Amino acid sequence: MGKVLIVDDEQGMRRILSTNLRLDSHIPVEAPDASAAIALLAREEFDVVITDQKMPGGSGMDVLRAVQDADSRTSVIFLTAVGTMELAVESMRHGAFDFLTKPFVPDVVRATIRRACERTALLRENAVLKKTVRHLEGPDEILGDCAAIRSLRETIVRVARMNTTVLITGETGTGKELVARAVFRNSTRANGPFIPINCAAMTESLLESELFGHEKGAFTGADKPRAGLFETADGGTLFLDEIAEMSPTAQAKLLRVLANGEFQRVGSTIIRRVDVRVLAATHRQLRAQVEKGLFREDLYYRLAVIPIHLPPLRDRKEDIELLCKVLSEKIAGEIKMPNRPLSHTALRKLISYPFPGNIRELRNLLERALILGQSSDLQPEDFPLEPSRASAVLSSGECTVDQLVSYLPEQLDIRDWLNRLEKGLIERALDTAGGVQAEAARRLSLSRSDLGYKVSKYALNDKTGISKQDIS
Ligand SMILES: Nc1ncnc2c1ncn2[C@@H]1O[C@H](COP(=O)(O)OP(=O)(O)OP(=O)(O)O)[C@@H](O)[C@H]1O
Ligand SMILES: [Mg+2]
Repeated sequence: MGKVLIVDDEQGMRRILSTNLRLDSHIPVEAPDASAAIALLAREEFDVVITDQKMPGGSGMDVLRAVQDADSRTSVIFLTAVGTMELAVESMRHGAFDFLTKPFVPDVVRATIRRACERTALLRENAVLKKTVRHLEGPDEILGDCAAIRSLRETIVRVARMNTTVLITGETGTGKELVARAVFRNSTRANGPFIPINCAAMTESLLESELFGHEKGAFTGADKPRAGLFETADGGTLFLDEIAEMSPTAQAKLLRVLANGEFQRVGSTIIRRVDVRVLAATHRQLRAQVEKGLFREDLYYRLAVIPIHLPPLRDRKEDIELLCKVLSEKIAGEIKMPNRPLSHTALRKLISYPFPGNIRELRNLLERALILGQSSDLQPEDFPLEPSRASAVLSSGECTVDQLVSYLPEQLDIRDWLNRLEKGLIERALDTAGGVQAEAARRLSLSRSDLGYKVSKYALNDKTGISKQDIS
């Protein structure tokens, strides 16, 4: 059942159509010409429009155009005596749903209208679903399809509406600032200011006066009174980046402003009040900083009302392909260069890399590859991965065989490399064991005799030392 607009200059035709439509419980509305139809379309929503082509003062094509302007999901059926092929083709090309000729067969018209109603209903439902999904998914600039990122987008939408502090943690380059901005944009404070400040970038006293302002003469060089960022951000959002680096005095002042909105400018006794939402971020484990006595526990709990942790990129490798696709398109636009797809081998290389710099590093790698790459698609050699940074991850014990393999040249003598690797591992074990073979063998899960054999094979005897343990 649908609401159907019948556009025809012949009253008799409109009547027959209305009667037929009522048989299927549709609601017919009649218009005697194109301009009357156009006026109705601007005011009301129709599911289907069935229109004649040739009418005084405007054609069926004019009606079709008006429908497209008003709501392109409304289905338009042409019913005309001038059934030329050209008109049929043209109307369909402009988005008409069907084209029927007069004299018409009532059953055919009724079936066509039923299908047209179904199509409109589906299109409308689809639009609603899309809107809901978008709402559920939240901010779409935060890319990723893994479970952690999907739930992150939902969390952002939910917490954005509250006024609480949010503590965003994660390694460098995981998107902490991106998340803070998304929280701000989805909040009721989106029209107010968003003020970011990096607490690690200034000295203790400078940070205090930046945040809370100062009075004239508060310190050497304070020749004018100055409002701090808390005052500037009144009614808006303050993003305290690298919060773990904040001095104890600033921490105490921050605690007070979070508790009751009150603070004093440096060198002033006047108590000021502000309404500021605080978002904070750190790449450190703030909980551990508390345990070490470096961060106030009470402040930690105030900040971490809602904690958001961003996973490192190496823990969500399934997102690398999507990130590459979207980011390279974005970067190409920014640097005004043509985008190029990622070859399968390059993708494999990226997937096996541990990304110590996370998404920022991936972005930089893509930008460099787009600028310097020579082939039509991005190749493994367009991504020179930094072994020094990678080795930091290797030594942190988070390296997998895949990652290790990705650092090695693609063309190599496998026996030579395996020998070099074995020699290197034994050398390292002997060094850390202080030359004690028994301990080195234990570390490598080798028997003493196997280790002895390999030590001679690789001429590492000078690395070994006789010790009490070895003698006994
Ligand atoms: N999920 C994501 N989708 C798309 N881009 C992302 C995503 N996460 C991060 N980025 C991009 O990666 C870069 C680094 O993000 P951001 O500056 O937010 O990281 P950060 O965690 O604040 O890093 P740092 O600790 O070094 O300050 C930015 O260019 C950001 O747009
Ligand atoms: Mg940051």
